[in-house]
Amino acid sequence: MIESLYAFLGEMGYTHPLHAPMTHLPLGMILGAFIFALLARLLGRSSLAPTARHCTGLAFISLFPTAGLGIMDWLHFYGGAWLFPIRMKILLAPTLGVILLICLLLERRVNVMRRTLVFFLTLGVVTSAGLGYFGGELVFSRHKLPELESSKLEREGAEAFARMCASCHPRGENPFKPELAPRNAPQLVDFELFLSYIRNPSARDGSNTVMPSFSEDRLPEAEVRAIYRYLVREAKGR
Ligand code: HEC
Repeated sequence: MIESLYAFLGEMGYTHPLHAPMTHLPLGMILGAFIFALLARLLGRSSLAPTARHCTGLAFISLFPTAGLGIMDWLHFYGGAWLFPIRMKILLAPTLGVILLICLLLERRVNVMRRTLVFFLTLGVVTSAGLGYFGGELVFSRHKLPELESSKLEREGAEAFARMCASCHPRGENPFKPELAPRNAPQLVDFELFLSYIRNPSARDGSNTVMPSFSEDRLPEAEVRAIYRYLVREAKGR
């Protein structure tokens, strides 16, 4: 069902993740709640307190669809792989939910303890910054590869790719399924993910694929690493 939604969006020309745009709602609301609660405390303006409360409420509610879309994106784009930033996000998201719930309970009181509220909203801002940071790590970490002895490895990668893969993936592309070109593949985000795909490839919809699996005998890990390096560095820039 999830895949048909992405397929439908793709047909309409939208191929990006759904989670990222949605995050603006909770993040913006948390910042708004923090700013209004801070002003209410600093200026002693109690008329600003309900604004902070409304922002907190909307932040809390919007957390659920945002997390849901995040999980869908994760399954679709990363195949549900347990990458480190994902684990951090799965830890931080419920933490943020609890923090916002505490803020909402504090805000319900007639005599709000403004200092305590500002403290918890600060925690909320920090937690959401953490969520944003690990989201960025997830999307952009493919640019941060360890510096290995590059030229030799890249040449090996180009050779291994030409030998094992280029018959089906000329120039890193995919004539069978043009939208699934290895040079843009989501598996490139992480070497372990790429390796496990090469050892046991599958189609996105779980059906059988024409792509053969490459065992350690056929393609040792060092060669997979060289191919990975080659794909990330060389082919992607074209
Ligand atoms: C016999 C043809 C064939 C060979 C050989 C082959 N592939 Fe593939 N590959 C495919 C097909 C077909 C797909 C699309 C998967 C599917 O069916 O959904 C694919 C998909 C991929 C993907 C995933 C793209 C995505 O967006 O999900 C990667 C990465 C990939 N191949 C890398 C390689 C590498 C690296 C090699 C060489 C070690 C290789 N392939 C060899 C046919 C092949």
